Amino acid sequence: MVKELDGKVAIVTGAGSGIGHAIAQTFGTAGASVVVNYFGFEAEARALATELTACCARSIALRADVSDAAAVNDMVQRTVKEFGTIDVLVNNAGIESPAPILDVAEDSWDRQLDIDLKGAFLCAQACGRVMRDHGGGTIVNISSIHEDETFPGFTAYCAAKGGLRMLMRNAALELAAYKIRVNNIAPGAIATPINLQTLQDPAKVKELSRIIPLARMGKPEEVAQVALFLASDLSSYVTGSTYYVDGGMVRFAEPL
Ligand code: BGC
Repeated sequence: MVKELDGKVAIVTGAGSGIGHAIAQTFGTAGASVVVNYFGFEAEARALATELTACCARSIALRADVSDAAAVNDMVQRTVKEFGTIDVLVNNAGIESPAPILDVAEDSWDRQLDIDLKGAFLCAQACGRVMRDHGGGTIVNISSIHEDETFPGFTAYCAAKGGLRMLMRNAALELAAYKIRVNNIAPGAIATPINLQTLQDPAKVKELSRIIPLARMGKPEEVAQVALFLASDLSSYVTGSTYYVDGGMVRFAEPL
């Protein structure tokens, strides 16, 4: 069996649950040593690192708040100390706190922008420096269909994800000279803890499925497969792009 990430070192942020967890699992199975970053979900992150070490390659769980530059730098230094380099970064950690635009509290706005956008920048900068010094790498940001699509009631989230789209595009241009590729994955409605309220309400799931051409929510593993493609040499000529993994949701239109 071909192991697309054999011998590679990958940091996946927010890997204690949901999409990040599936990506870390997929990367480990593909041969990478994975740094399973977490903030919440400590037990799950530790269990995953133990599982990957037993089946595949040595992996560790590291706690860090991605919006804290000192914590990010510490995580990156510890990764280099443990594994020698960083080949792959997946900026997955993210939160959303819905509120009508006229009611969004300043600290809620700050927290969403800090984690969803600044966190990705801090990790890309710190890992990018290591990648530059070691001959290249790949960065994959988990944005959202809402890096482009409006989402009333989620303005801070959309602003952060829209920012992530331009962060990716600029980083792709600036870092190409160092053989660092940068791309986004834009998931649609995926069955993860971020969508817990929807998942617990069959009527909401039905309504959501109505506006998804493939007529169902996605699975975290279906995002992880595309992350594996973008993280590995399978995508060696791909940079500066967004890949939608949304069952066609972003293309949905009511018949006229
Ligand atoms: C959000 C989900 C939402 C989905 C589709 C994602 O980015 O996190 O809450 O269901 O987009 O709108």
